[in-house]
Amino acid sequence: MKYDVLVLGSGIAGMLAAIEAKELGGNVAIVTKKSPMANNSFMAKGGINAALNNMEDGDSIEQHIQDTLKGGMGIADEESVRIFCEQAPQVVRELHRKFKVPFNTLENGKLAQRPFGGTKFKRTVFASDATGPAIMKSLNKALKDLKIDTIKNHFALNLLVNDGKIAGVTFVDENDELKVIQAKSVVVAMGGYAGLFRGYTTNVADATGDGVAMGLRAGLEGMDLEFIQFHPTGLEGTNYLISEAARGEGGRLINDEGKPFVDELNTRDFVTRAIVKQLQKGRKVYLDLTDVPEEVINTKLINLKKRVKSLKGIDISKEPIPINPLAHYSMGGIKTGTYTDTEIEGLFFAGEAGNNGVNGANRLGGNSLSEGAVFGKYAGYKAIKYAVRNNKFLDIPNEKVEADKELIESLKNIKIDAKEKKTELATLLFNKVGILRNGYAMKKALKELDEMRNKLESENDSNLKEKLEFLNGLDIAVAMTKAALDREESRGAHFRLDFPESDFSFAKHTTTKI
Ligand code: FUM
Repeated sequence: MKYDVLVLGSGIAGMLAAIEAKELGGNVAIVTKKSPMANNSFMAKGGINAALNNMEDGDSIEQHIQDTLKGGMGIADEESVRIFCEQAPQVVRELHRKFKVPFNTLENGKLAQRPFGGTKFKRTVFASDATGPAIMKSLNKALKDLKIDTIKNHFALNLLVNDGKIAGVTFVDENDELKVIQAKSVVVAMGGYAGLFRGYTTNVADATGDGVAMGLRAGLEGMDLEFIQFHPTGLEGTNYLISEAARGEGGRLINDEGKPFVDELNTRDFVTRAIVKQLQKGRKVYLDLTDVPEEVINTKLINLKKRVKSLKGIDISKEPIPINPLAHYSMGGIKTGTYTDTEIEGLFFAGEAGNNGVNGANRLGGNSLSEGAVFGKYAGYKAIKYAVRNNKFLDIPNEKVEADKELIESLKNIKIDAKEKKTELATLLFNKVGILRNGYAMKKALKELDEMRNKLESENDSNLKEKLEFLNGLDIAVAMTKAALDREESRGAHFRLDFPESDFSFAKHTTTKI
């Protein structure tokens, strides 16, 4: 199989990359680990940011830039932020007008916007409280209308590089056989790695950081891998994300004495730590929507109402909802240039898998969908331009393909209880490299990660793809822990109990290789 542009991953960044490349005349395929809707873009509920100023409260692109830089705590990259905030309005309008995403509108026909954290302006465009599903369904339709090849149930294994240029990708196909797809250019948009905190995360089970691990194995640098965002409001005892929209629409955070303890619409790192402090004092924490008008709940938070009822039997109009923070997003990823390019020619990383510095140490809620859209489109544009300019398929490095064949045969022949090991990994990360960290615990974590790698064999077995996911998780966990150890300060989502202050000398990116 051969394509001009091969897009790995079918979240908002991957879909828009594929659509852009196809519309510019490329022979394009999009490859997904399972199906096109199994991703975190589909799970993003609250909305997508763009400074449209439709609510006429004085928002502006400059204000969006300043809020994003401030949220990034001194290490967001100004050029990336500027491009992102300038492009976001156009991309969001395009989602509405061209792709027919059913966003909520105002009486004057303009897109409605709601408040989210980290800004005092109403900037978040939404489709009730199911924005991600609404966007993804519309883009999936466009993918079909454009007849873009969609290759499902293929696990991307390794990047094939010839003399510093991308040549293709190895996959484990639906029959667990190794497959090679050649491509003139490749976009990796396979999502982030907050899903490694399995059991403590809002992420879909498939978000195992495979793209980031693949990039690291290809010798690329991970950038700011230590920054994991914990979303303040997970529904207690579940992995269900209670969207920031609920606080935007007037929900309040209270403890079990009924006392407020934080500004609900501060940045997520700040709100999360305030919640953790309450939990450490033995308090319980609730999101209270009982003062939010029934009409708002029924029109803008209706899915939340139904889900909390079905999962917990709670009527959110009558009772506060018990919550705790859950790992939600990885700010870190494979280091890229502003426009998603990497050190390997013809290879682009977009969305949560890549890091061009747009989020710095802490992403603002609502920025991820628009960031994925803006830079996904750039990646598709760059990829097709590269493919046209370098109009040839490069030879596949056969020794790499043989090594991958050997790897999958050896994994088929060794019993690994990957399900159990993933849970073990998640617990280790949550306890030792979680919301509050310290050097002693993280050094211990590195030792334990090493032991895990040296003791793979188990009595029970799992399927091949689960084993590969677990091994990818180990690669990232080590890189993330090393990055977190290197950053001897606290900044944004990275809080060190042994270095609780921000230190100016660390106002820069960390880079990590494996
Ligand atoms: O809370 C939310 O709806 C999540 C949005 C986001 O992470 O951007």
